[in-house]
Amino acid sequence: MDATQQAQTNVGQTYPFALPPLPYAFDALEPIIDAQTMQLHHDKHHQVYVDNLNNALKEHTQFHNQSLEQILQNIDQVPEAARTAVRNHGGGHHNHSMFWQIMKRNDGAEPQGAVKQAIERDFGSFDAFKTQFNEAGTKLFGSGWVFLVVDQANGGKLKIQPMPNQDSPLMQNLQVVMGNDVWEHAYYLRYQNKRADYLKAWWDVINWDAVGERLNAFQSGKQQF
Ligand SMILES: [Fe+2]
Repeated sequence: MDATQQAQTNVGQTYPFALPPLPYAFDALEPIIDAQTMQLHHDKHHQVYVDNLNNALKEHTQFHNQSLEQILQNIDQVPEAARTAVRNHGGGHHNHSMFWQIMKRNDGAEPQGAVKQAIERDFGSFDAFKTQFNEAGTKLFGSGWVFLVVDQANGGKLKIQPMPNQDSPLMQNLQVVMGNDVWEHAYYLRYQNKRADYLKAWWDVINWDAVGERLNAFQSGKQQF
């Protein structure tokens, strides 16, 4: 991972946390994700997660030299008074930092190389994977995320992992390859209540190169989270 990507994803960042810049223009994902949604989602929603995470950790200086990944992986070590806020806003900051990085208009391109191979190995086919991912997103009650994760405890197999609220798969020692935000704030302006339509359209804005770099980092052991 080069310095630019590190800045975009905030991987390894410590307190005080900062909002990573959106790596493209607000309208870059039109018409799949509209510019107004992108602006509100990044500048307002994500900023609130960052601010609230910093507020929650302000007095807990023992966490100021830990990366967000370390904090989330050991969420039970955060004092109870701050734990829910760190879980929600730390998870929110980490999930969104990944989300911006793995999107780009792809004109219907499908994954190639190692990503394609791993998906076919663990789901049978790309279409079967898409169907299962969309189903998991549709079934998720309320607000949450659907992730594709690497499960190192199961031989590095890929699996689809829905999570409620802003919970991070890091809390279950799973590595996030990619994920889709199914909170209403991610899609309501364009898709209203039709979450299934948003999930279906979202495949046209996945940056498969970025997804491949993440998978490669996990498979090669270069990145632990
Ligand atoms: Fe979101």
